[in-house]
Amino acid sequence: MTLKTHRILTGHRPTGPRHLGHLVGTLQNWVSLQDSHECFFLIADLHVLTTDYQNPASIRTNTLEVIADWLAAGIDPERSTLVLQSAVPEHSQLAILLSMLVTESRLHRVPTYKEQVKQLGLQPSLGLLTYPVLQAADILLYKASLVPVGEDQLPHIELSREIARRFNSLYGELFPEPQALLSTMPRLPGIDNRTMHTSYGNAIFLRDTEEETTRKVMSMFTDPNRIHPTDPGKVEGNPLFIYLEQFDPDREQIEEYKTRYQQGKVGDVEIKQYLARKLNQSLKPLRERRAKFIAQPAYLREILFHGSNRARQIARQTLEEVLTTMGLTLGLALQPESGQRNPASGAFC
Ligand code: TRP
Repeated sequence: MTLKTHRILTGHRPTGPRHLGHLVGTLQNWVSLQDSHECFFLIADLHVLTTDYQNPASIRTNTLEVIADWLAAGIDPERSTLVLQSAVPEHSQLAILLSMLVTESRLHRVPTYKEQVKQLGLQPSLGLLTYPVLQAADILLYKASLVPVGEDQLPHIELSREIARRFNSLYGELFPEPQALLSTMPRLPGIDNRTMHTSYGNAIFLRDTEEETTRKVMSMFTDPNRIHPTDPGKVEGNPLFIYLEQFDPDREQIEEYKTRYQQGKVGDVEIKQYLARKLNQSLKPLRERRAKFIAQPAYLREILFHGSNRARQIARQTLEEVLTTMGLTLGLALQPESGQRNPASGAFC
């Protein structure tokens, strides 16, 4: 076994099944990082509550959907640790301790908070304001040095670094300063050419059937200035060609289509039919694996259970170090010995 020096932590909020944007931008990257790094993949279910606290039951279904997608994409529970945030109470405990090291005004200035408040149309909860503190706890609890994320998450990683520095200088050196690891992949557009997003109605999901996928591809945005198949079309920034580059290994065919498209010698419909076929072909093995996993919820729960228990050993250790470094040691003798719990107890989703 090769020595994996850098520890990685990253995660998703279980907001629904994963789509092609997650696959291309994120999951493929995570899968390859498993070879070289010790990876922790977090299901951040508490973070979902920061906006969707009114219907927590759906988080449970979504969690299993996300796990099935992750596994189908190649996340390997033998090599990586899959953690359910709500099952490891140390995430919340550390978040409380870290929240003392950040000012309220600093949190009000986090750009993701400002955007969410605009979109929400509700009074933001205290939990939404402290979202990045919980995220810092997620990362620091495992002393992760690298955090693979999209650009939108950079303000949260920056805040995690500030909190780590503040803790280290106040109480004693304990946390490494985590670094963001940005994916080099360009973002995959949704079928309407906006960013692909679960709630925009523009996503192709990993769990979609071939028919659904074809239907979505046939309704895809292309070159808005092209009215007739004989009009010269634009290839740059055209979702059809962005998708082909991603999912069709036949470079020659793509080049030929590009040339004909630019010359007005092939219609959108022909390219869409070709893309739908190639996309379905490329996703077929993943979808077969996914169907197998989603049919075995007990297996998915077991993976979460084992991963969370393994994570908890480390989390417990870190929390002990945190309390010790801070000098809050009186209660440490009361900590229970082991984090093992019975999966049949109903505590698991
Ligand atoms: N905030 C992240 C997102 O919405 C999810 C997340 C929660 C996360 N905790 C994390 C990502 C820790 C990286 C590290 O995508």
